[in-house]
Amino acid sequence: MSKPDLLQMGAYPDWDQIPLEAAFQVHRYFEAADKPAFLAQVGPRIRAIATRGELGASAQIIAACPQLELISVYGVGYDAVDLAACRARGIRVTNTPDVLTNDVADLAVAMMLAQTRGMLAAEAWARSGDWVAKGGYPLQSRVWGRRAGVLGLGRIGHAVAKRLAGFDMQIAYSSQSRKEVPADWAFIQDPVALAQEVDFLFVTLAASAETRHIVNAAVIKALGPQGMLINVSRAANVDETALLDALETGALRAAALDVFEGEPALNPRFKALPQAFLQPHHGSGTYETRQGMGALLRQNLCAHFAGQPLPSLVI
Ligand code: 8YV
Repeated sequence: MSKPDLLQMGAYPDWDQIPLEAAFQVHRYFEAADKPAFLAQVGPRIRAIATRGELGASAQIIAACPQLELISVYGVGYDAVDLAACRARGIRVTNTPDVLTNDVADLAVAMMLAQTRGMLAAEAWARSGDWVAKGGYPLQSRVWGRRAGVLGLGRIGHAVAKRLAGFDMQIAYSSQSRKEVPADWAFIQDPVALAQEVDFLFVTLAASAETRHIVNAAVIKALGPQGMLINVSRAANVDETALLDALETGALRAAALDVFEGEPALNPRFKALPQAFLQPHHGSGTYETRQGMGALLRQNLCAHFAGQPLPSLVI
């Protein structure tokens, strides 16, 4: 039996690539020198797209694949997939929730701790000899016991809040509705009101057209000169220009970001800001989680072509 033709939008580790190629006729879009010509050539045969969270699949790619049945995303976020185009043609979309939740939450909390305790500069202080030459490292602020806000109490937001509770932090959250959570987690739906109440604001909500720049200049101002913003969701949830302005003027103390507009290229303004703790979009970047994501990506693809229920269907 011939293998279904699949368009691959980005690279995967070998442990995913090999089984993917065993089950599908894989066409590597990301390696094509002339992408429009490649798409014109293979598009008519494509029945599935395998993509990554940040790469998605545009309306133009979807339109070039008239036989497309399924888009399987390696990532929980599917904001880069044109869902309207999929709905219009009855194309199914799957993602990889759950398997990455705890790693993304770990990174969010690690960034808060590392930035607030000045750990990067402190490591350099110990290594460079400054400790001997200059004495003890400058004092930093405390984390435990302070106030944390979680914007978006989905799977990842909940896992972040659980960790913060372990640091005896006071927790407030915003989500579309009140959730069943410990009684001392305050529900403050409005993002500005939430930011006003906390020292650390974690952005963990799924990105969509509705959430674009939900963290705007007013939210950042409300977080204030003692506040810190941590974003492990998507860059589009934060007004990056307003964030840079606030960091440059001291209107916001600090930020820790795993996601950027136009990533992997960064706005050069970030480079002059040590109070911005920057990470290369690797919240899910552990061997264990990436193996789980790859397995779920393939389970969705294989279930579709076997006519079985899809393990993590989005639409
Ligand atoms: C990426 C992500 O998919 O889960 C998401 O939505 O953005 C990430 O896990 C990952 O970096 C692989 O490209």
